[in-house]
Amino acid sequence: MKDFRFESQRTLTRILEKIDLSQLSKSQQNLFRARLDEHFPTLFETYYEVYGWQYDFYYHIQSLVEVLLKGFTERSAVLKKKDKHKLADPFWYKSENMLGMALYVDLFGGDLKKLKARLPYFKSMGINYVHLMPLYRSPEGDSDGGYAVSDYRCVDPKLGTIDDLRDLAKAFNKADINIVLDFVFNHTSDEHDWALKAKDGSFEHQQFYYMFDDKSEPEEYEVHLREIFPQVRRGNFSFEPTTGKWVWTTFNNFQWDLNYSNPSVFNAIADEMLFLANIGCDALRLDALAFIWKEKGTNCENLPKAHTLIQAFNCCLQIVAPAVVFKSEAIVHPDEVLKYIDKKECQLSYNPLLMALIWNSLATRKTRLLSASMQKTGDISEECSWVNYVRCHDDIGWTFDDQLASELGIKGDDHRFFLNQFYTGRFEGSFANGVAFAENPNNGDCRVCGSLASLCGLERAQQENNQVAIDLANKRILLVHSIIMSIGGVPLLYAGDDFALLNDYSYEEDPSKMHDARWVNRIEVNNETLANSPNEKVTQSLKTMIAIRQEHSVLGHAITRFLSPPNDHCFAYLRENETERCLCIANFSEYELTIHPHTFDILGQSTATDLCDGSTKALSENQKILPYQYMWLRVDKQV
Ligand code: GLC
Ligand code: GLC
Repeated sequence: MKDFRFESQRTLTRILEKIDLSQLSKSQQNLFRARLDEHFPTLFETYYEVYGWQYDFYYHIQSLVEVLLKGFTERSAVLKKKDKHKLADPFWYKSENMLGMALYVDLFGGDLKKLKARLPYFKSMGINYVHLMPLYRSPEGDSDGGYAVSDYRCVDPKLGTIDDLRDLAKAFNKADINIVLDFVFNHTSDEHDWALKAKDGSFEHQQFYYMFDDKSEPEEYEVHLREIFPQVRRGNFSFEPTTGKWVWTTFNNFQWDLNYSNPSVFNAIADEMLFLANIGCDALRLDALAFIWKEKGTNCENLPKAHTLIQAFNCCLQIVAPAVVFKSEAIVHPDEVLKYIDKKECQLSYNPLLMALIWNSLATRKTRLLSASMQKTGDISEECSWVNYVRCHDDIGWTFDDQLASELGIKGDDHRFFLNQFYTGRFEGSFANGVAFAENPNNGDCRVCGSLASLCGLERAQQENNQVAIDLANKRILLVHSIIMSIGGVPLLYAGDDFALLNDYSYEEDPSKMHDARWVNRIEVNNETLANSPNEKVTQSLKTMIAIRQEHSVLGHAITRFLSPPNDHCFAYLRENETERCLCIANFSEYELTIHPHTFDILGQSTATDLCDGSTKALSENQKILPYQYMWLRVDKQV
């Protein structure tokens, strides 16, 4: 690749001659210049790669620096102090103390003020990372759970105001709780000011989106595209009646994809992004980031320029708000997920492969695919971190690697069909109560929704009043959590799962929700639930598990080595730091099994403590592992 050092330096010098830094103090000017010196070369290179061909490239890059200056000027002194702290502790997200929760403000408290009042709950659980699901102004009725944003600078009035959000961020930060906000930058709602102007005929704003005069170009693209929500609308384009044009809408027809081949879009979104950063959040979740770049003849997912753009956004953040990290939401092929994970791109990433394969192992009681997949793609850069989850607000997609599966004798599509049958409870003997989502009438493909507890069998077991099945379901709930608590990375709980809440079917009666089964797992957590857990056993055991994690740094910032499974049904990995080793073994079956002592050789000691119950294990002997039991066998390293 060409070295742009000279060009970027010259461009920066010229821009700095043109822009006015005088509203900043001398020391702030120096800080801004120092950040530019460090990060402008990469920003220039990435921006040039995407927009260098534009006749007015220089105009746009100068405007972008003005956007950065504005963001820097508006960033409060408190947040600038936070920048300094986080830069001095860049791996804060690797600590054993990290524990996340994702929640909808309306379903968890009701509004921002009430959520703030629940701060003691988060403290009592040890949660120090709270992801507030999209809370921006969005269309009435269906807004894709808030993922159709009409105004990034305005909180949904039902939840409060932007000042309430700032206030909440301040209070939570003070209590050492990180705030995560969504950066929904692939699309806006069709009610966003830019979309309204586009509908009004503004050519400039029509260029913010992909708008076509007729269907011929969309059809050329369409040949290679996936359909994300085939249950509500076929294809990826929607007719817009006021202009008579076709608009690119990957998700719902009211979510208009932004056109990043237009540098004005990049600059405008960078401005919105810095506004969000300046509210005081600690991470931004890059929603649907795989889709931001389109090229005819491709599937328009995970294209190289999507990465270039994210790196450019990351540079903007490094210059203005370096306390904030990016979290990638790429629910795509495992090899593609990995490509977003880089200090220069996204420091954090959801781990959809681990998530899907945990469910796979529960259904099949087998761990070969899980172990082999983690061995292949579980390792990421030392500087970055997985965000490990079992359930979230979305459906479960079975995004494992078909090639790897086939090496193990598993046929990808057939197996996906089985998993869908299993988790929708159609498979004989299944314990799960899931709901099919986004069924494709052409190929029968679908994904699965449902609460963690219902998918683990609790709903069915309770209906049948079957105590044995209830116990097994509870054990499954704890087992899957034990994995995300110990495997390395930020464990992310989904609100309500700590109380083992069951599916909520009330969405079936709501016309704005009934076509979207994901609402079955968007469940209210009310005061009554907080005060009296409907499943005290699970809640208490989870708290214990969290406390154990917090006491042992080997469960935090340490390397993870994925091991060959000790038998067909157990999953095993080693955590290791400079002084300790911890061997984690999880039994994904309802049978008692025996672990042969050679499995423990890796610990290099004759005894270990199982952190889960405090017992001492003689490592030269066979060890029994009970149904769904998990062990965390810790030793000191020999000096
Ligand atoms: C992400 C969100 C999902 C939403 C989609 C479109 O995948 O998690 O809920 O529907 O993006 O914004
Ligand atoms: C697609 C997207 C994913 C999103 C999901 C929503 O699978 O790839 O990002 O979460 O749709 O259902």
